[in-house]
Amino acid sequence: MEKKIAVIKGDGIGPEIVNEAQKVLDKVGEKFGHSFIYTEVLMGGIAIDKTGVPLPQETIDVCLSSDSVLLGAVGGPKWDTLPGNLRPEAGLLGIRGALKLFANIRPAKLIPALAGACPLKEEITKNGLDLVIVRELIGGAYFGKRSTTVDEKGVKTACDSMEYSDFEIERICRVAFEMAKKRRGKVHSVDKANVLDSSRLWREVAHKVKEDYPDIEYYDILVDNTAMQLVRNPAQFDVLVTENLFGDILSDEASMITGSLGMIPSASLGEGSLGLYEPIHGSAPDIAEQNKANPIAAILSVAMMLRYSFDMGSEADAIEKAVDEVLNDGYRTGDIMSEGCILVSCSEMGDLIAGRI
Ligand code: IPM
Ligand code: MN
Repeated sequence: MEKKIAVIKGDGIGPEIVNEAQKVLDKVGEKFGHSFIYTEVLMGGIAIDKTGVPLPQETIDVCLSSDSVLLGAVGGPKWDTLPGNLRPEAGLLGIRGALKLFANIRPAKLIPALAGACPLKEEITKNGLDLVIVRELIGGAYFGKRSTTVDEKGVKTACDSMEYSDFEIERICRVAFEMAKKRRGKVHSVDKANVLDSSRLWREVAHKVKEDYPDIEYYDILVDNTAMQLVRNPAQFDVLVTENLFGDILSDEASMITGSLGMIPSASLGEGSLGLYEPIHGSAPDIAEQNKANPIAAILSVAMMLRYSFDMGSEADAIEKAVDEVLNDGYRTGDIMSEGCILVSCSEMGDLIAGRI
């Protein structure tokens, strides 16, 4: 099969981890007889430097005419003082919105070989950790009306509104229930319905969707309690579905209990098969261009691309198996290093994983 992939390397460690992900993808292409055709496009800080805007129209056009999009990471201190709408992150929100990618799938799984990197006590992790956060991606406070005003007394006030319509909640809840059907059949819908109107609507709509899935075990859970339960007893969770900002925060927490933020891939999906695949971590400017970064989240993001956008399940399995093998053999990048393991660079990790495909 031939697939067109738009590649956004971005800033910081973005280019180095994406290079490794492409290395692995090319190996998959060779072994399974596919050709992946890449078109590199600009987004984030590098786009600001080269074109003056974080998301050039050409990038949107190329992404829309591709079969999927691979993204590294965007942002860095160089662009931190720009106004919000011109920051690199605005490019990321812009592309999610332009491609109508409302569902962000973030799996967090404790790989046995990495148990040593997990900060939780063994008595907590002995029951395992294998959950998926289904994060709403193009609504809520990220996309609501915002303003910063100064009144006549000089008091400065900033406002971000968290807005959700019923159809936005319904479509993301459906993604979560469908996912639970293919997993352990359990959904926790995370909200703050004891305080927020948007959460009360969330709960009402989630309950309606639940009626179509009588076999799924369903729970409402408040977001503060979820944050606590994730470190108290993460094994209780299968699929968590939640709004944009809560999902952002909880997925960082969930990633850390798997050992490192550097391990978690994500898929952002809309109605069709076009998806955007990216690690959940940021651009880590402090270690950029030192060949130190962990490329595994980017490599696992490519596995998600094969599975969700290209319907290539065996190819995706091959990547995940290769990652497991390399970790089982004791190879580690700095972020997941533990005693007795072998420290490797970003590109060596990519070579090792590609070598096992
Ligand atoms: C993520 C990131 C982004 C987000 C930032 C970079 C805008 O933290 O993908 O989780 O908040 O969505
Ligand atoms: Mn985040």
